Amino acid sequence: MSRDLAPYLDWLRSHGVAFDVAGELARDDDHVGPLVEGDEEMRPVELPGIPPFVEHRDPEAGLAADHATFSLAMALLPRIAPGTRFWDIGCGTGVLPVAAGLKGASSIVATDVDERAIALARRTAADANVSIRFSHGVLLEAVPARLEADLVAANLPHKPCPPGGDLPISQRAGEDGADVHSAFAAQAAARLAPGATVGFWLHSLPDPRLLRAYAAFDLTLVSWKRRFLQPGEYEDVLPWFLDRARRGLSYMAESSGRRFLVGGVWLARRR
Ligand SMILES: C[S@@+](CC[C@H](N)C(=O)[O-])C[C@H]1O[C@@H](n2cnc3c(N)ncnc32)[C@H](O)[C@@H]1O
Repeated sequence: MSRDLAPYLDWLRSHGVAFDVAGELARDDDHVGPLVEGDEEMRPVELPGIPPFVEHRDPEAGLAADHATFSLAMALLPRIAPGTRFWDIGCGTGVLPVAAGLKGASSIVATDVDERAIALARRTAADANVSIRFSHGVLLEAVPARLEADLVAANLPHKPCPPGGDLPISQRAGEDGADVHSAFAAQAAARLAPGATVGFWLHSLPDPRLLRAYAAFDLTLVSWKRRFLQPGEYEDVLPWFLDRARRGLSYMAESSGRRFLVGGVWLARRR
């Protein structure tokens, strides 16, 4: 176990989070900000085992796949086979559901609370010739009740936001960063059949109550990385992050004077 990962896992356990670590735990490359790279409106996406495709994006509006999207894709693709029923809740520009479709997933559903994201994702899917049922709305409320899933991507916002802070609705996750995932986990527990699995990428800023909200699921960490903060990154909200870390409510570490978060891909399997 890496000395950069172990303290984070100890911190989660000390806050009552129960989980396993995958035997074949993958270490992804460190990410050094910024979160979204490049200002192109279209970008090629290359992932192992599927044909390349083009992402339609709007980086200025924060609508673009990032390092977390790609870590999650790398973890989910080996778990997708022809016929896997796949949902993406909070699909952004559509990289995950399109990749799933190219790997053979069926009955693909992609939802988002932001209509601009849905419009971009539709274009990503159309260019790749992947058939997806898109739906605009909040979390699982946007998925028709009769549908079922085997694998659900839920790369949802989890950044703590200071009281009175003004984040766009698509990034709002409450003061401790756990509101959106907690609401989603409750809906998913009620909705998903035993064995169905949720995958998401998470950094170490939100309150550990986020992971405790997945109490009806078996949680496994399958990959991890260090996510370094660049000077000036998150300027407005950094004091909130640092204060929370001081109070033990978020986890942040340092290497050679540079601050980093620990992040990783979690799989939550419905019991
Ligand atoms: C971090 S982005 C991830 C986008 C995409 N899944 C990816 O991995 O590239 C989070 C997405 O969740 C959407 N979102 C935020 N809150 C939501 C909610 N309550 N219901 C549905 N989608 C939401 C945002 O609009 C945004 O597109």
